[in-house]
Amino acid sequence: EITSVTGHRRWDSRARPTVEVVVRTPAGTGRALAPAGASTGSGEAVDLRDGGEAFGGKDVTRAVAGVNGDIAAALTGMDVADQAAVDARLEEVDGEAGFARLGGNAAVAASMAVAQAAAVAHGVPLWRHLDPAAARLPLPEIQIFGGGAHAHGRLDIQDLLVVPLAAGSFREAFDWTVEIHRAAGRWLDERGRLAGVAEEGGWWPAFESNAEALEALVAAIEGAGLVPGEQVGISLDIAATQLVGSDGSYRLTREDRTYDRDGWGEVLLGWLDRFPIVSIEDPFAEDDPAGMALLTAAVGDRVQVVGDDFLVTDAERVRAAASDRTANTVLVKPNQAGTLTRAKAALDAAAEAGFGAIVSARSGETEDVTISHLAVGWGSGGFKVGSATRGERTAKWNELLRIEENLGPSARYAGRAGLGPWQS
Ligand code: PGA
Ligand code: ZN
Repeated sequence: EITSVTGHRRWDSRARPTVEVVVRTPAGTGRALAPAGASTGSGEAVDLRDGGEAFGGKDVTRAVAGVNGDIAAALTGMDVADQAAVDARLEEVDGEAGFARLGGNAAVAASMAVAQAAAVAHGVPLWRHLDPAAARLPLPEIQIFGGGAHAHGRLDIQDLLVVPLAAGSFREAFDWTVEIHRAAGRWLDERGRLAGVAEEGGWWPAFESNAEALEALVAAIEGAGLVPGEQVGISLDIAATQLVGSDGSYRLTREDRTYDRDGWGEVLLGWLDRFPIVSIEDPFAEDDPAGMALLTAAVGDRVQVVGDDFLVTDAERVRAAASDRTANTVLVKPNQAGTLTRAKAALDAAAEAGFGAIVSARSGETEDVTISHLAVGWGSGGFKVGSATRGERTAKWNELLRIEENLGPSARYAGRAGLGPWQS
């Protein structure tokens, strides 16, 4: 039984306030922190902020007050193990779509803290509480170069990531990635192109063009002694909602070029031809299903076409995308949905539709590692939490290493099978 729920203001990796929720039961305590996006989809649960002057309007005193008020009153006395009932109660007490009244940030922190408290009460880690038979480590997508909204538009593509397809374990996958990251840093440094570190920890590069960034990534994979395409694939998050103009055209600022939908599709298909890309996220804007359909049809199931802003972790949208063939994979960000139950529903819809699924963190993160447990406990094919640097990222990767060790010989690394149709 939940004996108390309290909200607290903490800080995220962008030095912005965020919501922490602590859930107490006689059998133990759970806590969780809300993440926050920068390139958000318009269909996401509401990230409730105070507005005004302090901290650029990003303070969360209203969201925290809602936790200590309505949310605490609603959840106290409930069964901590009944996640579905807790999450339904959160929706009921908010009363508005997308948690517009109390905030999706308050709701998701409360939902995750309840899950953590339930696991503690059962004396097991959360991943095992979610599925006692879970044994699969997801295929990670790890950022090497950061751009887009996370690097002041220094590169148009938001994320250039590597996917260690042929590693034998998650541990080996991460070893490979770190060597690639080092090789990429050397490549940039030798050419005077190293401009710093982007918000999710990848190198902040000064490239001449987006294609040059892809060439550098292939060189970095080779520089680490690995075979691009065979051992390590490339994943892109275009975050194209950030590139589209009011007239629906796509603009590459770096190259000073503008494309209509078909022209943009040709640019993307050209990259898919030239480079060993296995996954491409939000290749068209969130309100351009025709573009999404064009690319999905062109690649079939050779490449993951991932909906992030486009699907916003919504089961209904996943089902619609399956029938319209506007994507073949869903990105699962619990804070887009507002509760774990809603996020899991999107994952289940993906399984039913034969979609792939990637559990994902946000660009604004904390030391909270709940997401690592969700990826394993829900058996998601993929996992995306940024680069191999910065503590809020390594916290999540290190937690996967602990889970893999904890599983011992029964651990299985998803590898290439983590792509495409998702099966838990
Ligand atoms: P966001 O970016 O967390 O800033 O929305 C991550 C992503 O687009 O996948
Ligand atoms: Zn994205």
